[in-house]
Amino acid sequence: MSPSALTISGVDKFYGPIDRGVHAVKNLTMEIGEGEIVALLGSSGCGKTSTLRMIAGFEEVSRGAIAVAGRTVHTLPPVKRNVAMAFEGYSLYPPLTVRENMAFALKAARLPRSEVDAKVASIAKLLEIEDILERYPSSISGGQQQRASLGRALIREADLHLLDEPMGQLEPQLRAVLRGRIKHFIKERGLTAILVTHDQTEANALADRIAVMEGGVLQQFDTPDRIKERPANLFTGTFVGEPPMNVFEAFVGTTAGRISLKLPDGLSLDYDKDAFSTPVRDQLLSRERVVIGIRPYAVRRSKEGVPARVSANQWLGDQTHIAADFAGGSLVLVEHDRTRLDLGAPINVSIDPKNLHVFDQASGKAISHGMELA
Ligand SMILES: Nc1ncnc2c1ncn2[C@@H]1O[C@H](COP(=O)(O)OP(=O)(O)O)[C@@H](O)[C@H]1O
Ligand SMILES: [Mg+2]
Repeated sequence: MSPSALTISGVDKFYGPIDRGVHAVKNLTMEIGEGEIVALLGSSGCGKTSTLRMIAGFEEVSRGAIAVAGRTVHTLPPVKRNVAMAFEGYSLYPPLTVRENMAFALKAARLPRSEVDAKVASIAKLLEIEDILERYPSSISGGQQQRASLGRALIREADLHLLDEPMGQLEPQLRAVLRGRIKHFIKERGLTAILVTHDQTEANALADRIAVMEGGVLQQFDTPDRIKERPANLFTGTFVGEPPMNVFEAFVGTTAGRISLKLPDGLSLDYDKDAFSTPVRDQLLSRERVVIGIRPYAVRRSKEGVPARVSANQWLGDQTHIAADFAGGSLVLVEHDRTRLDLGAPINVSIDPKNLHVFDQASGKAISHGMELA
């Protein structure tokens, strides 16, 4: 791995007294390499902003340590950390124009005027805010303030760039364009960046690795592909992926030499023993109950399959999302053609064991993904 740009070791954040206040970040440990883009992905309140603010020095670390570029920083004031941050609430300096806001840190570092002007011009072009450079924050829209704030962070030379929901206020089209440009900008300069987002598309598009958080706990830290294909637990499995993974509780049994995953409503998914690799089969047979997960695009309709009944059918322009009543719950299938099925129509579905994710019923931890153990 490349040298460590950021090392977070056993960090806890309590708002209020330690062990008694709000426990916003729980025993967080992660390491980010130089030149990496990492997305902190999770729902509102999971501790993303608290994590960034501790790295930048705007919140105290309750327990643990943080090092940036090999230097312990969690005891230093923000200005001594060499970390640039774009805040969730923009926080531009109101008495300064957009240009002055963006140029502020460079002027403080005594860069020559011509160099400052050139950098502001190039970043303003990248973010499409060239025409508001002489305006004041109070006279521009939220989306423009957000881009100015992002520009103010990107323009800096720093060991680490922290971007807290930097595109949340932008229209989808502009967001998609800027995603590409920002990624190019960061990669071209070899910057290390942490992007906070609750938008999985943004995380997938921008990040080399995604850190999924929930309830202050890091659930998985891995490449977008591995997060999708090998979710570490039920939370990651159902949180990442659109539409979400289908999950069902199943009793494991054997009938006539076959493995049965018995679902509610008397349904069961039956497989040849040889359909599983030996380690996966052994894991299944050692348990009474498991939770199975199937991605919507891995569910097939086939005559031999298990019966289900269509409850919704939507054509989204390039794929069909079908929901069906199945095993006492709802099953979602994605098909790439336009599928015309009436509501209430009976269908049969089958699930290839290669596409089956199996989770521990009690802990939610992944047991297997297709043919491989987790
Ligand atoms: N200044 C604060 N005082 C008390 N609780 C806070 C403070 N800031 C955040 N929290 C709480 O900490 C948790 C994590 O918040 P935050 O890090 O802002 O989450 P996110 O950015 O993922 O939405 C939430 O429960 C939030 O209410
Ligand atoms: Mg936040």
